[in-house]
Amino acid sequence: MKKIFTLRSFSLFIFSAIIIYSCSKGGSETPPDPCAGVTVAVTGTVTNPTTVGGSNGSIAVSASGGSGFTYNINGGAFQSATTFTGLAAGSYTVIAKNSSGCTGTSTFTVSNPPNPCSGVTITVTGTPTNPTTAGGTNGSIAASASGSTGFTFSINGGAFQASGNFTGLGAGAYTITAKDLNGCLGSANFTLTAPNPCSGVVITVTGTVTNPTTVGGNNGSIVASATGSTGFTYNINGGAFQASGTFNGLTAGAYTVSARDLNGCLGSANFTLTDPNPCAGVTITVNNSVVANTPCMPNNGMITATAAGGTGTFTYSLNGITFQASNVFSNLAPGPYTVTAKDGNNCVGSSMPAVVSNLPEGPLFSQVKAVLQTNCVPCHNNSQQEGGMNWTIDCNIVTFKDRVKARAVDASPSAMPPTGLLPSSERQKIVNWINAGGKFTD
Ligand code: HEC
Repeated sequence: MKKIFTLRSFSLFIFSAIIIYSCSKGGSETPPDPCAGVTVAVTGTVTNPTTVGGSNGSIAVSASGGSGFTYNINGGAFQSATTFTGLAAGSYTVIAKNSSGCTGTSTFTVSNPPNPCSGVTITVTGTPTNPTTAGGTNGSIAASASGSTGFTFSINGGAFQASGNFTGLGAGAYTITAKDLNGCLGSANFTLTAPNPCSGVVITVTGTVTNPTTVGGNNGSIVASATGSTGFTYNINGGAFQASGTFNGLTAGAYTVSARDLNGCLGSANFTLTDPNPCAGVTITVNNSVVANTPCMPNNGMITATAAGGTGTFTYSLNGITFQASNVFSNLAPGPYTVTAKDGNNCVGSSMPAVVSNLPEGPLFSQVKAVLQTNCVPCHNNSQQEGGMNWTIDCNIVTFKDRVKARAVDASPSAMPPTGLLPSSERQKIVNWINAGGKFTD
């Protein structure tokens, strides 16, 4: 079977080849080609898209070389309608087929229209009006455009509208875009700023200070309030804000209370809390025991102070500046002194002036001084100091008492006065004084 089928197929092939060959030779014995001598020509009118990149282009076609045409485009289905719409820029091949199946082909080019915006510069200008209140939305931008015509306007990419006026705006950044009749665009940025809610707001903080009742105590307080706005909260020394303006538990010191209103506007005031005066009601008395200065000795006056009143340990000062622990001041020259005592709270009290005086000269010294005044001063004074001696100075008599005795009593190495020894009663006064000690106070 298989072999027979193969032979028969081969025979059909040979037969067909002969027929085809006969037709191509134009033999009358084969069916005529209906398209022979038929030329199908396709013509068309291209309508470009109205916008660059648009797809509303179209091609209206017609054909000749037969009748009953159908058309396809770019290999699509054949249709009887002669217009292809919805075309973007590009190359399109249209085939027209007549009722006999004969076809013709043309290629059409759909082009974008020239860009209407090239060379067009649209400038948007505008007048922004800021919101009048913080958080308000009564700001506006009145925009206009130049560089073309037929503008519509959009804000922040919204719908285009005929007016360039945009109202009801809060603070923020805005872009206004203008579009002309060809769809060409221009834009500008605007910023609306909310007013500073604190400008013109003066917040005044006042308060009542209650000082600690004890030195170092922490029961002081500040009761503060504010005016100039509303919705105040308060803080002290930069701490957390609280609703109340009362701050308790304060020690002595400097404090700043700030008030903040509902918009965050601030005002502040400084307050100082002071400890009670520890010296109020404290009286410190100082009594002095004075030892007088002895002449012709190094300054040896002395004051011993005794303080009473006050708290804690006293310190003492002769001049009120330098305080010492000791209540004894020695090596004092004659003169008035005021002793100040300071207690543990630095409360002070002062004495009445304590006068360090010179002790008076003694009776024996007075007698010797009188002897020398009469018998020696003529040759031993300020202007004439024989042998370097000046007996008008009391302390010279004390200092050089041995020389006085040697010359005036013992005539050693020679008598003074040079004219001869003094009467023995006078010399005895010198002896008595020296025997008693030879001091100013003897
Ligand atoms: C008339 C003058 C004169 C009279 C008065 C006089 N002197 Fe002199 N004195 C002298 C002369 C000059 C010297 C120096 C020469 C000498 O040291 O001898 C002197 C020196 C001294 C000296 C120092 C020398 C020494 O030895 O340390 C003493 C002290 C002195 N006289 C004590 C006295 C006494 C005390 C008297 C009174 C009682 C006195 N003189 C009265 C003239 C006088």
